[in-house]
Amino acid sequence: MGSGDGRVVYLTATLGGEAFGVEHSIGLADGSINAGKILEDSKTVPVGKAKVVQGDFLSDDVDLGGYDIIFFFDGGTVERRRLEAKLVEQMREDAILVCYHQKQPFTSLKYLRKKPARLFGQEEGKTAIYVRK
Ligand SMILES: C[S@@+](CC[C@H](N)C(=O)[O-])C[C@H]1O[C@@H](n2cnc3c(N)ncnc32)[C@H](O)[C@@H]1O
Repeated sequence: MGSGDGRVVYLTATLGGEAFGVEHSIGLADGSINAGKILEDSKTVPVGKAKVVQGDFLSDDVDLGGYDIIFFFDGGTVERRRLEAKLVEQMREDAILVCYHQKQPFTSLKYLRKKPARLFGQEEGKTAIYVRK
C-alpha cells in the first residue's frame, strides 16, 4: 500500500511472489511502472508476477482481502483511521500486515510478535507485524 518507486513490489517478484502495488503519486506510479517494463525487457529480473497501478489504496477499487502479506511503510500522511478500519474489514484472517516505521500502532489489530522490532540491522525504524484480532 503506497508502493512508492516499486522496489518492494519488484523485490517480492524476484523472490517468486505475486506482488501488487498501488501508489497515489502519479510521478512515482508512472516511474515504477516504467521501471517494471525495463526490468521485464532486461529479462534479468522475473517481474512477470508484479504489477503497479496508480491509485488510492483507501478507495473502493482496492480490496485488501486478496493478499497473504500486506506491506505498509508509514510515511505519516495517511488517513490512518480510515486505513485501520479498512484493514480490519478486509484483511483475511490468515494474512499478515508488515508495517515499517509506524509512529502510532493500529490498536484494532494485534501484533504477531510481542512488539515492533528492528529487522535486518536497519537503524532508522522498527517493523511491526500485525494479524487480525
Ligand atoms: C513512505 S513511502 C513508502 C514507499 C514504498 N512502500 C517503499 O517502501 O519504498 C509512502 C508512499 O505511500 C504513498 N501513499 C500515501 N497515501 C497513499 C494512498 N492513500 N494511496 C496510495 N498511495 C499512498 C505515498 O505517495 C508514498 O509513495
